[in-house]
Amino acid sequence: MSGTTAAPVALALRGATVRRWSTALGRELRLLDDVALEVRAGEHWVVLGPNGAGKTTLMHLAAAMSQPSSGTVEVLGARLGAVDVRALRERIGFVDARLARSLRGHLTGLQTVMTGAFNTIIPQVRRLKPEHEERARALMALVSAEELADRRFEDCSQGERQRLLLARALMADPELLLLDEPAAGLDLPGREGLLGALATLARDRPALPTVTVTHHLEEIAPSTTHALLLRSGRILAAGPVADVLTSERVSDAFALAVDVRGRCGRWAAAVRHGADEG
Ligand SMILES: Nc1ncnc2c1ncn2[C@@H]1O[C@H](COP(=O)(O)OP(=O)(O)OP(=O)(O)O)[C@@H](O)[C@H]1O
Ligand SMILES: [Mg+2]
Repeated sequence: MSGTTAAPVALALRGATVRRWSTALGRELRLLDDVALEVRAGEHWVVLGPNGAGKTTLMHLAAAMSQPSSGTVEVLGARLGAVDVRALRERIGFVDARLARSLRGHLTGLQTVMTGAFNTIIPQVRRLKPEHEERARALMALVSAEELADRRFEDCSQGERQRLLLARALMADPELLLLDEPAAGLDLPGREGLLGALATLARDRPALPTVTVTHHLEEIAPSTTHALLLRSGRILAAGPVADVLTSERVSDAFALAVDVRGRCGRWAAAVRHGADEG
C-alpha cells in the first residue's frame, strides 16, 4: 500500500437521520436526512444553509448532545449510543444559543468561562485549581474579553457573551471545536476580532478540527478548509471550501440567485440583479 497517512477522523456521520413527530402537521419530520460527513484533524468546516435547514440539529449530534434516529455518529472515535457522553462532552468545545441560555446569568464572566473547564453549567468549584483561572484569563485575553471578568453574564451584551462563550469552549483544551453561529450579534470589530482569535487558534493548535455554522459568508474564517451546504436536512454539497462555495451552489442552497466572491480566504455573497448587469 502506498500514499500518505490520512489525518485521524474526529467526526463521522453515516446515514445520520434525525426524525421528530410534528403534532401540528400530524406527520413525522426529517430534521436531518441520510447525512454522511467526515471531519478530520486539521480541517476547519463551515456549515451554511437557510433557517431550519438542520444546521443546529447536526451540531447537536456532533456535540454528543443528541443521538440520530437512525444511522451512526462517531465523535472522537466514540460511537454515540455506546459510550458515556459526559466524558465525551468534556473533550468537545461547543458554543450554541441553547447552551448560552442554560448558563447561570448571575455568574461573572470569569466564572462563566471557568464552567468550560469540565463543560458544565455550574462551576465545579472543588475540581478547579489556580491554573484554571490563569487559563481562563489567558483565553479571555485571546477573545478580547478581559474587561468582562467581573461583569455578570446576564449583564453582558450579546457580542460580549459570544466572546465569553468562545473562551469557555476552549477552556478544556478540546479535541473538537463546534461553533453554532459564533458571530451572531457581533459588531464589525467584534466579528473581525473573533476571526482573528480563530486564526490564532488555527495557528497555535493546527490539528484541532473545527465546525462552524454561520449565516453570512462574510463571517467565514480564512482558516476554513471545507464547506457543507445543507437544505431541508440534506447535504447539497460538501468538500473543499472553494469547490462548494460557488455562486451556483450557494444560490441553490438558499433558493436565491447570488454572486459569491472569494478572495484571500474571505467570502462574500451579493444578490444577483439581472444577468446582463455588469
Ligand atoms: N423537537 C422538534 N420537533 C419538531 N421539529 C423540530 C424540533 N427541533 C427542531 N425542529 C425543526 O427542525 C428544523 C431544523 O432545525 P435546526 O434548529 O436544526 O435548523 P437550523 O438550520 O439550525 O436553523 P437556523 O438557521 O434558524 O438556526 C426546523 O424546521 C425546526 O423547526
Ligand atoms: Mg440553528
